[in-house]
Amino acid sequence: MPSTRSIEVLATAADLFHAAAEEFVQAARTAIGAQGRFTVALSGGSTPKALHSLLATNYADFVWNRIFLFFGDERHVPPTDPDSNYRMVKESLLTKIQILAENVFRVHAENPDAAAAAADYEAELRRFFELRPGDRPGEFPRFDLILLGMGPDGHTASLFPDSPALEEQSRLVVANWVAKFNTHRITLTFPVLNRAAEVMFLASGADKADMLRQVLEGKNTPPLPSQRVQPSDGKLLWMLDEAAAAKLTR
Ligand code: 6PG
Repeated sequence: MPSTRSIEVLATAADLFHAAAEEFVQAARTAIGAQGRFTVALSGGSTPKALHSLLATNYADFVWNRIFLFFGDERHVPPTDPDSNYRMVKESLLTKIQILAENVFRVHAENPDAAAAAADYEAELRRFFELRPGDRPGEFPRFDLILLGMGPDGHTASLFPDSPALEEQSRLVVANWVAKFNTHRITLTFPVLNRAAEVMFLASGADKADMLRQVLEGKNTPPLPSQRVQPSDGKLLWMLDEAAAAKLTR
C-alpha cells in the first residue's frame, strides 16, 4: 500500500468528530472483512473524548468483540488516576460499549518501575501480534489504525522533542523520561507508529493552529515528533477542524 498523506478540514469540532467516527468504523469494517479483527492503538489527552462518546452513542451495537484496543501511550500513574489515559478511555468509551475485557490491552502503569511497565507492554504486543523475540530485527506489529494527537510542542503519543525515545529503533514500547514533566511516560515508538496501515491525527481548536502550520508546512531541524510519523506503507490522515487549520496555506 503506497504511503499517502491527506489533510481533511471539517467546519466545526462536531463535524470533525463525526467524520473521525466514520473513518474509524470504515477502517474497522475493512479490517474485519479482510482478517476478522481490527486492531487499534488509542490516543491519550483530551481531544479523543468526543470521538469516543460518538462511537459509544452512534455505534453502541457495533462488532466491538472483533475490535482489540491498545494504547499509544500512558502516563506513569495508576488506572484510577485523573491523569490516566486508560481512565479517560474507560469513562468515555469502555463503560458505554459491549466489549470483552480481554479485548482491551492497557499499560500497567501502576508499576512503580516505568521501564518494567514498558517491557511488559512490549511483551503483550509481541504475544498478541505473534512476534517472536528472535524475529528479524525490524519486525514490528502492524496496527490497522493508530489514533494520535499533537501537543503544543509538536509531540505525539509520548514522543516529546529532545526526549530519549525519539531515537529508539528496535523496541516497540519504552519508558520515556519527559524532563519538563519530571516523569516517565510509556509510549509506542516511531517504528511501531510508522508500521501502521493507517495513522489518524485528530486536532481541534485554535490553540493547535500555530503548531499545525509548523508540523504540516514547516521545515524543522530536527523534525518535530509529529512530523516523524510517516507510515512506510500506510495511510496518514490529518483530521482537523477549521479553527485548528486556520493558519494552513490553502
Ligand atoms: C497524551 C497523549 C498526547 C496528546 C497530545 C494532545 O497522553 O497526552 O497521547 O500525545 O495526544 O498531548 O493532547 P490534547 O488532545 O489534550 O490536546
